[in-house]
Amino acid sequence: MAITLFIVLTKSIAMIIGLLKESHPEQRVAMLPENIKSLVDMNVDIWIEDQAGVSAFISNEKYEEVGAIIRSRKEILSEATIILQINPISEEELSHLTDHQVIIGVLNPLREKELVASIKEKNLTSFSLDSIPRTTRAQAMDVLSSMATVAGYKAVLEAAMQLPTFFPMFMTAAGTIRPANVLILGAGVAGLQAIATARKLGAQVSVFDVRAAVKEEVMSLGGKFVDVEGAKEDRSAGGYAVEQTEEYKQKQQEAINTHALKSDVIICTAQIPGRKAPLLISKEIVEQMKPGSVIIDLAASTGGNCEVTVDNQMISHHGINVIGNSNYPSSMPLDASRMFSKNLFNFLKLIINDKGDLNLDFDDDIVQGTCITHQGEIINERVKSQLT
Ligand code: NAI
Repeated sequence: MAITLFIVLTKSIAMIIGLLKESHPEQRVAMLPENIKSLVDMNVDIWIEDQAGVSAFISNEKYEEVGAIIRSRKEILSEATIILQINPISEEELSHLTDHQVIIGVLNPLREKELVASIKEKNLTSFSLDSIPRTTRAQAMDVLSSMATVAGYKAVLEAAMQLPTFFPMFMTAAGTIRPANVLILGAGVAGLQAIATARKLGAQVSVFDVRAAVKEEVMSLGGKFVDVEGAKEDRSAGGYAVEQTEEYKQKQQEAINTHALKSDVIICTAQIPGRKAPLLISKEIVEQMKPGSVIIDLAASTGGNCEVTVDNQMISHHGINVIGNSNYPSSMPLDASRMFSKNLFNFLKLIINDKGDLNLDFDDDIVQGTCITHQGEIINERVKSQLT
């Protein structure tokens, strides 16, 4: 009896990390068992919401096999120190959290101003994985790149499925089929993956981007980069695009229009962080495109690059299929979750020490840049400057 008591008293209380189930229609889960196991090995208790992984084809048993415990959502929200989820929890649930808790997910803080205000008011510590700095050291934690990779790939497959013609060139006894012309707007991570996938399927690919720096990458993937001179670039924007002058926009528009009318498929990926997506394909141009052509707009949730895009819908406009989808990663939930999970685990290693305790080092640029709120303050400089 005395020995048992000694053991109980000396066993340190491990920090609890809780993994929540996403709400429908999201199919991904923030962490997979392979990374949960590594956290358990770091002396952290892991609680998983019942059926958290089911939409990504991961059962409760798979989490239990690596040492996690299945708990209710209520228990996780009230007792976990760190709460993991991809999409932010509801305002109602936030209101039950207390100021010693940490939430980590994709909070989209530049757009979700009310959410940031609530989290700050509650004195919660929050980290938004879409704010991870775009630096070499942070690459292994970059969920935006991982999800953009899935989106670029899936967008091209979706276009190929919808198109009434082939992507590759065929020379058959029934005649020659010419290859599809694919126009890609924006050559960031999603755009580059879309180029690679469209080329593998045999299409001819033309590409626009305001950042001349991507020209070589586009060409190395077999795409044709369309130069429009006079683009404004800003080194302080961290590699991101910035708003362009009216003169440039007009020149770019003329060039895009010419290419759009020759295209069978347009993949829209152009975005400017924290702003509405640039409008690059007007309604008039859509109406002049070849019937049966397909537009996939990955920028749909920020207004779309195409004027007729409706977010989360496939519409037919004058015989052109226009698909607004900013969440293709959810449609490939297992590998999308696998990539997200690894990125998230790499980030957690930065804020958990070798005893399994929370250890926030705000001198670390990744911790600082990813932290949105802490002790009632907004920490991320970009979010602070936009919200105050
Ligand atoms: P994004 O999703 O913000 O934008 C997509 C693309 O659209 C960008 O290439 C952008 O230049 C382009 N764009 C914006 N306005 C446009 C317009 N009017 N017309 C045509 N194109 C337009 O970009 P993403 O994929 O997030 O990448 C942004 C930057 O971050 C890139 O420079 C990328 O190389 C860099 N990056 C760095 C990483 C790292 O070092 N850890 C990881 C991933 C990306």
